[in-house]
Amino acid sequence: MIRKQRTKIKDVLASEKPVDSITVMGWVRTKRDSKDFSFVELNDGSTPKNIQIIAEGSLKNYEEVKKLTTGASVKVVGALVESPASGQKFEIKAKEIEIFCFADPMEYPLQKKGIPFEKLREVAHLRPRTNTFAAMARVRHHVAMAIHKFFDDRGFVYVHTPIITGSDCEGAGEMFRVSTLDPENLPKTKEGKVDYSKDFFGKPTYLTVSGQLDGEMFALAVGDIYTFGPTFRAENSNTSRHASEFWMIEPEMAFYDLEDLMDLEEEFVRYIIQYCFDHCMDDLEFFDKWIEKGLIDALKHVLESKFARVTYEEATKILEGAEKSGKTKFEVKPGWDVEMGAEHERYLTEKHFKVPIILHNFPKEFKAFYMYQNDDGKTLQGTDVLVPRIGEITGGSVREHRLDKLKALIEEKNLDMKQYEWYLDTRKFGSVPHAGFGLGFERLVMFLTGMKNIRDIIPFPRTPGNAEF
Ligand code: 4AD
Ligand code: MG
Repeated sequence: MIRKQRTKIKDVLASEKPVDSITVMGWVRTKRDSKDFSFVELNDGSTPKNIQIIAEGSLKNYEEVKKLTTGASVKVVGALVESPASGQKFEIKAKEIEIFCFADPMEYPLQKKGIPFEKLREVAHLRPRTNTFAAMARVRHHVAMAIHKFFDDRGFVYVHTPIITGSDCEGAGEMFRVSTLDPENLPKTKEGKVDYSKDFFGKPTYLTVSGQLDGEMFALAVGDIYTFGPTFRAENSNTSRHASEFWMIEPEMAFYDLEDLMDLEEEFVRYIIQYCFDHCMDDLEFFDKWIEKGLIDALKHVLESKFARVTYEEATKILEGAEKSGKTKFEVKPGWDVEMGAEHERYLTEKHFKVPIILHNFPKEFKAFYMYQNDDGKTLQGTDVLVPRIGEITGGSVREHRLDKLKALIEEKNLDMKQYEWYLDTRKFGSVPHAGFGLGFERLVMFLTGMKNIRDIIPFPRTPGNAEF
């Protein structure tokens, strides 16, 4: 058993005093040779920090140790001693170094430091070995834990909604088809159309774009629920904030109105930031130092400020005013009848309000069929949370719980009523006011780390034209 011998480097570095004999295992980050000894910087992924190993010429396999290069894996048994070097409390004086595996420097693609992220995407199977991607993985983990804790502490029930579905939640037709039919030999109906009754589920099915509709069914029975799972979008958006497969957190709450919803969205974002400060500050410090200078101060600012709550109409006026006064120029001219894009969202949150904002009451043309309709006949009670550097991180709404109004909007949007019959049942039997939102996990982690591209904040990105590894 080797597991029991090992101390993780995170715990080694947290030691209060020197230790006579300790065992660490990990991957060589760098090695420098002196006259008759070598310094090895070792990392095991438990922390962004390395431990320095002193390998003296007296080691019985020193000739082999001298051949270690970046990426090689070793086990080191030695004494934890105070380090004379500045910037580190301890180092390990090796008594024994066992080499698990070399990493041929002629072939190992991560030999050099500072490889651009675009290049690292081509070796996404090895990039977890870099500081940035290991930190990314740890932050994702802590954020996931924070999400569960936030909802659990508030009595929410975690509901597992299906990944394969027959319903288009957003009504936008951006779904990946799930089928076992042979594309070379499709069964046809008499009318010459594809006969989906012969398909695996006996009907057309897709990968879900959102668990919301199923989530609502449970909220209208157990009160407060949330989902947290993968979602899929076949939209051909090649941007730094769109992925074809991403994770979404979707809380859904019975007996909530617009204000309750906005309060929860704000409390949630703030909670996650605080949780990361408490659980992975060393990784945030890494991102602050190497990826986005001033990151931690910016997150502290968000923690301390109230989010601005702005209607779409007010926001439009601000954007139009900014353009008129020459403060800025947008690629797409803003207006009530123009759907806001990232440039508008970012202007509002970064330049105008300088805090996250909750944009609400959208023109009904821009939002989905399930949103609560205001009496003005023009707007829906949707909410988007916009944050600096990213723009939209959550999309939510009060749900239309009035059967007649809901049906009318489904018709207005030319959607297939039959597809939603089961959904409409909740509006027939004991319907209640309720609300929910969906938060893009990757966008949230981009916001927390300062990473600029969604392809670098998910382990193996799926984007149009790319499904490697
Ligand atoms: O705004 P969206 O489309 O809302 C929904 O799907 C609702 N059904 C959610 C709900 O109310 N339960 O998506 C929600 C969030 C967005 O704000 C964004 O953060 C993220 O999901 N998102 C994406 N993230 C990465 N890549 C994409 N292609 C994304 N599309 C949406
Ligand atoms: Mg949205």
